[in-house]
Amino acid sequence: MLDSFFVIILGLCCCCRTQSSQFFLGHPRLDGPKEALVKSIAEFQCEVPNHPMDEKVLLQIFKLGDYSRTLGVYTSIEGKVGNIPMKVKMQHEGNLVCKASIQNTSISGINATFSNIHYFKVIEPVKGAQIIPSGLVELFEESTLELRCELSAGNHVSYKWLHNDQLISPSSSHRVSDNQLTISRVTSKDSGSYMCVATNVFNQTVFNARSSEVEITVKDLVSAPDISFTVLKEAPHKYSARVRCQSTQGAPPITFSLYNGSHQITNVTVDERHAELKLPLVLNRHMGDLCCHASNGEPTTYSRRLPLHVVPVGGPVTIESKYDSGENYAIIGLRFYCKADKGSHPRYQWFLNKTLLQDQGSFYYVMDLPPKQSMLALSVGRSSAGTYHCEVSDNFDNTTAISSKRRYIDKEVLNRIPDYVVGIVFGSFAFLIFLVSACCCIGVIFRKRQYGEKSLWSLQTQRHKAAYEDELDLSGYSDNPDLLKVVKMDEFDQTSEASEDDWPWIQKETLKAFCGK
Ligand SMILES: *[C@@H]1O[C@H](CO)[C@@H](O)[C@H](O)[C@H]1NC(C)=O
Ligand SMILES: *[C@@H]1O[C@H](CO)[C@@H](O)[C@H](O)[C@H]1NC(C)=O
Ligand SMILES: *[C@@H]1O[C@H](CO)[C@@H](O)[C@H](O)[C@H]1NC(C)=O
Ligand SMILES: *[C@@H]1O[C@H](CO)[C@@H](O)[C@H](O)[C@H]1NC(C)=O
Ligand SMILES: *[C@@H]1O[C@H](CO)[C@@H](O)[C@H](O)[C@H]1NC(C)=O
Ligand SMILES: *[C@@H]1O[C@H](CO)[C@@H](O)[C@H](O)[C@H]1NC(C)=O
Repeated sequence: MLDSFFVIILGLCCCCRTQSSQFFLGHPRLDGPKEALVKSIAEFQCEVPNHPMDEKVLLQIFKLGDYSRTLGVYTSIEGKVGNIPMKVKMQHEGNLVCKASIQNTSISGINATFSNIHYFKVIEPVKGAQIIPSGLVELFEESTLELRCELSAGNHVSYKWLHNDQLISPSSSHRVSDNQLTISRVTSKDSGSYMCVATNVFNQTVFNARSSEVEITVKDLVSAPDISFTVLKEAPHKYSARVRCQSTQGAPPITFSLYNGSHQITNVTVDERHAELKLPLVLNRHMGDLCCHASNGEPTTYSRRLPLHVVPVGGPVTIESKYDSGENYAIIGLRFYCKADKGSHPRYQWFLNKTLLQDQGSFYYVMDLPPKQSMLALSVGRSSAGTYHCEVSDNFDNTTAISSKRRYIDKEVLNRIPDYVVGIVFGSFAFLIFLVSACCCIGVIFRKRQYGEKSLWSLQTQRHKAAYEDELDLSGYSDNPDLLKVVKMDEFDQTSEASEDDWPWIQKETLKAFCGK
């Protein structure tokens, strides 16, 4: 009760005060365009609700919070709406307010009032786009490319980037933020021309600024080189190694350095992807492990280690053959393998009747099987008959040729049963006979020892039995096969026992055959 009374009193007091001053302006209303182009003229309206009839009201436009600078001004009389023209400047952008105050400063006690806040956007059309690379326009794979698009004028800009006239869509490796394009870990695909396009919009009008093109070159890093060497004979007993370092990729110029272990022997910078370096060489000596280093930018790549050890061919040159059989086990093809005992750089040559066989012919082909063999494959026929041999020489010195044994080949000889097969078959047969006879001998000896004198008695009994059976008319029982078998077996027993004496002779012959071989 007391509260509400107090409020009413207070309200009346306020009322009296307003009425007495008569000059409460009320809060003006600010209206106008939401955006405008810079340097254009924009008109704002500021209207005071309680306009005093006989007093001029000063209407001023300010940026919210900055009342030291008046952006636009108008003096209104008799309650007219104040049209305030403004030459739009960049700094006009922001929250604008209108301040209303009585112009006659000698009238005191009337407070100035402020309008609503009006957001105003100032557009400056884009102009003068230009790409500024942060580093070199020639860069290596794996490095980062950063390009900025700089404008001479423009705000509220969005940027697009073109690579060879194709729009770059942002990805994990291609980032577009504000006016900057960042490509992490560039590859050769990122080479090409780059352009940026800056855009802003005012009242559905689009402003564009295209930069001129900037050419970016991504250079391939040099790939790990391959190392190899060839041997040269400069003079008798004077040799050198020509070492070749070769990379498959990488933008020249490339510097190749040759190392012996960890010690650099020499280096060379070339406009190609390979280099040849010459070293003096001593045969039959391990001259260290060579390694090529290659570099065309920061990271250096390395070849494998290659031992520099040259051994001339030597030792016996052996030739081996393998047969290929067709139907009926007839030999239709033949492969010769040639191999030298020693030699790190062998060169193989095949001959038929002293004619060199090269690469491939109607009935043969030659193939080197690195590291240390060569193969000659033949089809067996009339044209391939003859005497074959191979020669091995150093590939840097053809005066060192060593010849293999000669092999005579023709179809009939090949398809005759080979000696070793005859040997094996005969040997196996003889061995079998030997085994059987040995078993029999052991059996006989064993039996003799077991039955001793008895055997004589049993022999006699059997003879009696046989004589008795002979007396029987066997023909009567001839249709009884079992009986007949018994009789026949007995006969066999007798003969085998009777021929026991022959065995030692056979054994002797068999043994002779073995030793004779
Ligand atoms: C300002 O107001 C005073 C007092 O009301 C008056 O005497 C004076 O003439 C006014 N000045 C102007 C410029 O209107
Ligand atoms: C936008 O353009 C249209 C026609 O092109 C025009 O009528 C309108 O007044 C413009 N608005 C502003 C804010 O300039
Ligand atoms: C190449 O060799 C020279 C001396 O022969 C040396 O000064 C230089 O550093 C070497 N360059 C490289 C890349 O190793
Ligand atoms: C490599 O170094 C070893 C000793 O460190 C040396 O005996 C050999 O001759 C060197 N090889 C070359 C090709 O210089
Ligand atoms: C090689 O010589 C043998 C006899 O010495 C002859 O039968 C054969 O036809 C010759 N082969 C060739 C291809 O000349
Ligand atoms: C050895 O090689 C030289 C040069 O390559 C050649 O002129 C010569 O005929 C060859 N000698 C033999 C026997 O192959």
